[in-house]
Amino acid sequence: MKLSGKVALITGGSRGIGFAIAKTLSENGASVVITSKNSEKLNIAKSKISNSFGITCDIKKTNEVKNVVDETIKKFGRLDILVNNAGIFPKIKKLHEIDENEWDEVLDVNLTGQFRFTKEAIPHLQKTSGCIINISSDAGLKAYQGFNADAYSATKAALIVLTKCWALEYAKDKIRVNCICPGVVDTDMTKPFLKNQKDIEFMNNEHPLGRIGQPEEIGKAVLYFVSDDASWVTGSILTVDGGESIK
Ligand SMILES: NC(=O)c1ccc[n+]([C@@H]2O[C@H](COP(=O)([O-])OP(=O)(O)OC[C@H]3O[C@@H](n4cnc5c(N)ncnc54)[C@H](OP(=O)(O)O)[C@@H]3O)[C@@H](O)[C@H]2O)c1
Repeated sequence: MKLSGKVALITGGSRGIGFAIAKTLSENGASVVITSKNSEKLNIAKSKISNSFGITCDIKKTNEVKNVVDETIKKFGRLDILVNNAGIFPKIKKLHEIDENEWDEVLDVNLTGQFRFTKEAIPHLQKTSGCIINISSDAGLKAYQGFNADAYSATKAALIVLTKCWALEYAKDKIRVNCICPGVVDTDMTKPFLKNQKDIEFMNNEHPLGRIGQPEEIGKAVLYFVSDDASWVTGSILTVDGGESIK
């Protein structure tokens, strides 16, 4: 199996894309640690993924993030893969309508949260020549008529450049850092935009391949990046989006 003996930490692995990533990595031999704020959802997810370990954590709290990494090392003795996946999507508003607290909340979870996890993980990844995957978004690459959530786009664009910064900085430690930009994927996050057949058809048509994505399709892209198949790939930004970003 591609990931035998590897330990992977997936933030926000309780549901959606994070859950699919955790399941894919586990099915390929990795031991996986998943995190979520919600212990009930975490337990359900854990029961569906073999060789998995769940730890509750609010990504906004530095001590809780540190605890996740410490517990991972205590349980498995190593860390090979960090997937920075946890994220939130705010209400769509024009910039002048956004309250500063809403702006701060999105940055705290989607950007500072990824900083917190990466900072704690790096010393362990240096020991294993491990790798990091940042889950960004097409929203970090382009603007959308009537669909912009500026704080979200700002965090996702930041993750793209941070991928390159971290890839360059830690290449000497043989840590590879790559990034995936999904288009619209069928998860709780996108449910509000897929309420009826008209919405679904609209979203499907936004993607040149004629449909939105499934979480497992992001899991497969992560598997490529974290496996030896990508041993010479770092600082790469991969769109997995049914062609959405071409337009
Ligand atoms: N779905 C899409 O169309 C799409 C497209 C592009 C990029 N993405 C990105 O893909 C990632 C996963 O999205 P998704 O669609 O799977 O979202 P989702 O179904 O809403 O799941 C979000 C995950 O993040 C966790 N999370 C949220 N806030 C957290 C916090 N403060 N502390 C710890 N964990 C927190 C959630 O845990 P709880 O269960 O505790 O809430 C959950 O596990 C996100 O970064 C998102 O921006 C998604």
